Amino acid sequence: MTASGLLGEIADVGRDARRGGYSRHAFDSPEHDLRTWFVERAQQLGLDVETDRNGNLWAWWGAPGPDALVTGSHLDSVPGGGAFDGPLGVVSALAAVEALQVKGFRPGRPFAVVVFAEEEGGRFGVPCLGSRLLTGTIDAGRARGLRDPDGVTFAEAAAKAGLDVERAGADPERLGLIGQFLELHVEQGRGLIDLGSPVAVGNTVIAHGRWRFSFAGQGNHAGATLLADRVDPMLPAAETVLAVRRQARTRPDARATVGRLVPTPGGTNVIASTVDLWLDARVPGTSTPELVEEITRAARQAAEEEGCTLAVTRESYSDDVVFDEALRRSLGEWLGSPPELPTGAGHDAAILAGFVPCGMLYVRNPTGISHAPEEFAEVDDVEAGARALADVLERLAK
Ligand code: GLV
Ligand code: MN
Ligand code: MN
Repeated sequence: MTASGLLGEIADVGRDARRGGYSRHAFDSPEHDLRTWFVERAQQLGLDVETDRNGNLWAWWGAPGPDALVTGSHLDSVPGGGAFDGPLGVVSALAAVEALQVKGFRPGRPFAVVVFAEEEGGRFGVPCLGSRLLTGTIDAGRARGLRDPDGVTFAEAAAKAGLDVERAGADPERLGLIGQFLELHVEQGRGLIDLGSPVAVGNTVIAHGRWRFSFAGQGNHAGATLLADRVDPMLPAAETVLAVRRQARTRPDARATVGRLVPTPGGTNVIASTVDLWLDARVPGTSTPELVEEITRAARQAAEEEGCTLAVTRESYSDDVVFDEALRRSLGEWLGSPPELPTGAGHDAAILAGFVPCGMLYVRNPTGISHAPEEFAEVDDVEAGARALADVLERLAK
């Protein structure tokens, strides 16, 4: 079972004919199929699989126990995402376990492959929901009440998938078992393209968060309502989109995006009554909230000028993360000094890094594109990544 062979096995699961790429969201049918596939594959390797109280899957090689070496990633995607973001870390972990088993290696400490739930927040809006719940960095009651675009709550969807949702939330016993966590991931920018190496070691993750801007006006007729009589929430929403770019440009290395904007009721000949837009903002250091403040001021002014109201809700926020220095040094030494890369992408490893030593490996992405169908990794690089993962897991698990 090679990593690229395993990716091939799931290549048809959750393809999105309308958007292109893949749409695999927490507890939907493609994600369920991927989970089933993972359980079967892990069991074939002799691993014992369990689902934790937050919907994360744990495949144990040997008995669970303290100081466990844990590796893995996620299987869900953004809407219309690529084939590698998430699954690459899961298939590489399975392939690494098999490669080590074939060599006759047996871990000298507890060892698990993990699949985190709802890493992208593609369904319920909060990224890394499985690892945030596990670590208690999101309130369980709030998580249970998160709604997907159809109004289904996390609690309802999770219960339908067989979880005892009343038990969802901080899981200190399980968290206490993790000695180190290592996540392999496709590189999501152009970071590795010109460096002549298929693999990099992760060093930092930029602070990031999501805010929902809800503008309310007066729904009305597109033909019968004179311009002077309108209270159209689309106007301040549009101003806000422009303010996002304008304000982000004033800060070095800031990234800020409006990738989702929903007018209600959403008719061509209807002035919207409300418009929701979601801001994804990421600035190295501590100034992301300041950037959001500036954008909020511009949004409020535009809302007032149109006679609309505005409510702003923070949906998630994570500070800058620096991965464990000793682990980074070991990974670099064992892998022949590959490049070290920062990333603007969020990861479960960055959530766990606040609690246990974590590290990341990135695999070269020749398109430099991610969260889109063009995300890519060459087969040779996928295999190089899986070999690198097996190599470091063997050393760490001795
Ligand atoms: C997840 O990939 C994110 O960075 O949003
Ligand atoms: Mn992603
Ligand atoms: Mn990911």
